[in-house]
Amino acid sequence: MAKKEKIRLALIGAGNMANSVHYPSLAEFPDVEMAGICDLVEEKLKATAEKFHIERTFTDYKEMLDEIQPDSVYILVPPHHLFDLVIESLNRKLNVFIEKPPGITTEQTKNMARLAEKNHCLTMVGFQRRFSPVIVEARKKVEERGSIIQCAARFMKNYFAGPYYNGAVDILTADSIHAVDILRWMGGEVKKIVSSVKNLYAEYKNTFNALLEFENGAIGMLLTNWVVGKRIFSVEMHSKGISAFAEPDDKAVIYKDNEEKGETLLTQDAAKSKEKHKYAGFFTENRHFIDCLKEGKQPMTNFADSVKTMELVDRIYHSQM
Ligand SMILES: NC(=O)c1ccc[n+]([C@@H]2O[C@H](COP(=O)([O-])OP(=O)(O)OC[C@H]3O[C@@H](n4cnc5c(N)ncnc54)[C@H](O)[C@@H]3O)[C@@H](O)[C@H]2O)c1
Repeated sequence: MAKKEKIRLALIGAGNMANSVHYPSLAEFPDVEMAGICDLVEEKLKATAEKFHIERTFTDYKEMLDEIQPDSVYILVPPHHLFDLVIESLNRKLNVFIEKPPGITTEQTKNMARLAEKNHCLTMVGFQRRFSPVIVEARKKVEERGSIIQCAARFMKNYFAGPYYNGAVDILTADSIHAVDILRWMGGEVKKIVSSVKNLYAEYKNTFNALLEFENGAIGMLLTNWVVGKRIFSVEMHSKGISAFAEPDDKAVIYKDNEEKGETLLTQDAAKSKEKHKYAGFFTENRHFIDCLKEGKQPMTNFADSVKTMELVDRIYHSQM
């Protein structure tokens, strides 16, 4: 796409993520036009359109795409309803932003990625933790000493409601995938893996742990368990003589050369904001998408890249001790 002043967007979905993190981000960008919005539920559609001053509303997304003729489309619907909407949009040669997970199977993600490549569409999946300002800053400091030699991603929850969307999507693909994706971001592609996948106090799988060796020889650890005391998401990154421990809802602490006291980076300071959609990485991920559209380059978490995260999810299931 040639450089443009304003990106014209069609928006599918007036649900939670749309209202709480994506549309508040887009509404702040002067180079974005939120040209039309669609949802199946009239009340949500009306409320969201009013909140973000979007004039054109639709309950049929194909009608919206015909009428609005956007450059790009946001598709923020539950993952098991995603595929047909993405394929239709890619067939229309539109650029596409979706939330994670990028489909419910690797096969779906691969087929979306193939069509996007064939039709020269720019695509992005919302793995916002890669864009969390405090994690990005902590990684930069660690890599000043050299590449990451060891890393870990921990995602814990106290969650007993079963697989997501009434059983449509398993827990690892639907949600723990955030930890899988950020391991790839920290360590690169995975050479070897041994995992443990368990059902704890349940008939479904809710605990996923793995030891990984990346292609560059670095070591990674995935620690996820959905039946523990509370929700926590954290990452560790280590290089020679330096270590970063980040809890991106709060802070990162960097330790160097055996010094007792670490350097603390507060999450809200790193993002220069107290608003969650900014400090949690959503604002910067949306900015990245829009910048990529303007520059005609693929976003970091494009569909082809997300195939690799889905393949790593599959390997976690298939590499059990
Ligand atoms: N990145 C994160 O941390 C994070 C957190 C929560 C959810 N998510 C992801 O965000 C996505 C959306 O989740 P949510 O919580 O906002 O869901 P939601 O149920 O609140 O909203 C989805 C909306 O899509 C609408 N919809 C469904 N099919 C439609 C269609 N064919 N045409 C038009 N509208 C349609 C529904 O009516 C609903 O309003 C999911 O993929 C979920 O996995 C990501």
